[in-house]
Amino acid sequence: MEIIVSILPYILLFLSTLLSYPFIIKKKKKKKHSSPPQPKLHFLAAANSYRNKLPPGSMGWPYIGETPQLYSQDPNIFFASKQKRYGDIFKTHILGCPCVMVASPEAVRFVLVSHAHLFRPTYPNSKERLIGPSAIFFHSGDYHTQLRRLVQSSLAPEAIRKKIPDIEAIASSALESWASLGTVVNTFQEMKKFSFDVGILSIFGRLDDSYRQILKENYCILDKGYNSFPNTVPGTAYHRALMARKRLGHILGEIIREKREKRTVEKDLLGQLLNFRDANGGTLTDEQVSDNIIGVLFAAQDTTASALTWILKYLHDHQKLLDAVKEEQMAILEMNGGKRPLTWAQTRNMPITHRVILESLRMASIISFTFREALVDVEYKGYVIPNGWKVMPLFRNIHHNPDFFPDPQNFDPTRFEVPPKPNTFMPFGNGAHSCPGNELAKLELFILIHHLVTKYKWEVVGTQSGIQYGPFPVPLHGLPARFRKDLGCIEQDACP
Ligand code: HEM
Repeated sequence: MEIIVSILPYILLFLSTLLSYPFIIKKKKKKKHSSPPQPKLHFLAAANSYRNKLPPGSMGWPYIGETPQLYSQDPNIFFASKQKRYGDIFKTHILGCPCVMVASPEAVRFVLVSHAHLFRPTYPNSKERLIGPSAIFFHSGDYHTQLRRLVQSSLAPEAIRKKIPDIEAIASSALESWASLGTVVNTFQEMKKFSFDVGILSIFGRLDDSYRQILKENYCILDKGYNSFPNTVPGTAYHRALMARKRLGHILGEIIREKREKRTVEKDLLGQLLNFRDANGGTLTDEQVSDNIIGVLFAAQDTTASALTWILKYLHDHQKLLDAVKEEQMAILEMNGGKRPLTWAQTRNMPITHRVILESLRMASIISFTFREALVDVEYKGYVIPNGWKVMPLFRNIHHNPDFFPDPQNFDPTRFEVPPKPNTFMPFGNGAHSCPGNELAKLELFILIHHLVTKYKWEVVGTQSGIQYGPFPVPLHGLPARFRKDLGCIEQDACP
């Protein structure tokens, strides 16, 4: 039963990809008429003409390929066993698409950095509809570069350092609510609420409570439908998500109109998007602004919540490390007299906590791989990646390769006392699409850990361990845990 629960999202993802496949083909055919300069071979024709130059590997059954093998086990075991058999670059056929998987630092760098212009990001059409087609991560080229500049500057250290007191307030209130409940909470779900509130703060700055509430309600419905079968029949989770997306568009439209009328120059993401002018004075439309707000919320929420949930699990399972982290954080708390807010410099100087974060990101490899699509026939080390094929850089395989991280299954933050070899540690990706939110994500982790270990205790409930994918890896059942105030803080005069 457990394996079914954990692979269910993948089965749904597979079905949703199959369902959206005809749309993808239709869309591509249309594009062919409007942009003919580079003749594009259909991927099967390309596969036939390059049969001898394709990377090693197997394509499985016609059409379904190797998807059943991928999802009848932990997907990471599938990738790892393929790599063991065929090497660092191999072909397969999953989710209705022929794919080349790359698992060496050099090959991943080739795809994401040095030859990134030969590949484009690719997502199922059903996902694009929910987020909004103008969101940053669906694009490459000039539009992407311009948007990225805006997103990056709103998430740069200079911008987020001012938000520390607000993030601390969100963290304190979340922890207080879990402890005051006194019951078992689903850690992942609670962390999602925390990362959502920080996401709202970084996008809008301060936002009216009524807007925050209605955005939260509708985003929650969208989130629930994201991994469901993309059935547009009323009553289904996907249809409800589409309706919620429509409502989100209206609410964001209202907020945008209000902000435009006020003509304030703000540095948060919404301000950056509204103040944007291209070389010809052109601005972004309300839809482009909305799609990017939803896109950033989406990119920020589950990833950060998953990282936090894993950190709590690893600290809980390694009490000595927890003691060391606690000692480091108590020293900072004392330095601040138990009351003053954290400073930016303090968040930059938590070496033990930092190594725990890095090791958690390596072990969990939350984004275990990403997808690109070859725009032309690409040659790499004598192999051909045909035009139209998907390419999957496998971050997790690299993070768990004993050549780069000895004894990779062992949780050992001390390994980060020495910086990892170049291109072997990519929790935030690499190249033009690498994560612009990585500094904010780390800041959130530092702040929540600081308040958690200095003022609270938690116990994980249940003995079952395992991984669930939703689609990011999360400890089984979201890590059920009970939180309570650490009475030791009374002596320090540091209780919340
Ligand atoms: C621990 C938390 C996080 C992890 C592990 C993570 C990881 C990643 C990775 C691996 C990518 C690259 C995907 C690819 O190449 O296809 C990415 C992209 C992105 N992330 Fe994050 N992320 C995290 C948190 C955040 C936060 C907090 C934000 C924003 C507030 C954010 C915003 C984005 C955006 C907008 C992109 C797309 C960038 C582009 O296409 O140019 N992420 N993230």
